[in-house]
Amino acid sequence: MTDTEPTTPADPETEHRTEPLLRIEHVVKSYGDERVLEGVSLEIDRGDVEVLVGPSGSGKSTLLRCLNRLTEVDSGRIFLGDLEVTGDTDPNEIRQQIGMVFQDINLFAHLTARENVTLGLKQVRGMSEAEARERADAELARVGLADQADSYPAQLSGGQKQRVGIARALAMDPEVMLFDEPTSALDPELSNEVLAVMRELVEEGMTMVVVTHEMRFARGAASRISFLEDGEIVERGPPDRMFDDPTHERTKQFFESIRHD
Ligand SMILES: Nc1ncnc2c1ncn2[C@@H]1O[C@H](COP(=O)(O)OP(=O)(O)O)[C@@H](O)[C@H]1O
Ligand SMILES: [Mg+2]
Repeated sequence: MTDTEPTTPADPETEHRTEPLLRIEHVVKSYGDERVLEGVSLEIDRGDVEVLVGPSGSGKSTLLRCLNRLTEVDSGRIFLGDLEVTGDTDPNEIRQQIGMVFQDINLFAHLTARENVTLGLKQVRGMSEAEARERADAELARVGLADQADSYPAQLSGGQKQRVGIARALAMDPEVMLFDEPTSALDPELSNEVLAVMRELVEEGMTMVVVTHEMRFARGAASRISFLEDGEIVERGPPDRMFDDPTHERTKQFFESIRHD
């Protein structure tokens, strides 16, 4: 088309695409007297996987929750492309575009796997029963649960429940997926089936922010690892450098401590 013409001004569409998809600018959050996020800034490109690591209480979950407005920031701004997450936008709109998967698998016990996925599609997206059902079944198949659509949570393993949670978030067709220790409550075997689904999402080019202690996943899948401590990003870099040659003493100590777990 016109890209080859030297006189054509820069295409705003193309220019826009080179910008980070998620921009976190100086986010501060306190609970009472405790500053939990001390002015966190982070830019994440489309298709990248940001893994957040750090000691318990360092603010990882709070940061994720700010990203989809489960928690309101005190100051600072967060953007998803042109959409200001911290602005006036309806939080439901944001949560469709930024899906989240939690450690504690919060499915409705009285609904089947399929119904857990169709609920949001009908209530938030306004889909008909038939449309929602088709969509839910496709997403359940995507996470390897085509044959469990009619099962209730009590009939599913922890790993299967977590995969229903992922299908539920994916059904909204989000731009970004947030994962907060999605395998921490699971036995290793069940963790692996969840991690396999997450790796597939990475391969499909999903933009992801992942809090995890699964260091093999982090090393293999992360574009960048951020090490948080006391509400600050102490160090950030590509996984190999963060693991093998961290600059900061605290990062070094952290990776050494988890290696000996
Ligand atoms: N809703 C809340 N009310 C009060 N304090 C909170 C709340 N959520 C988190 N905190 C505190 O904020 C700090 C950071 O917590 P969190 O973001 O959960 O850390 P992490 O996920 O890294 O373990 C902790 O000291 C925690 O006790
Ligand atoms: Mg946490």
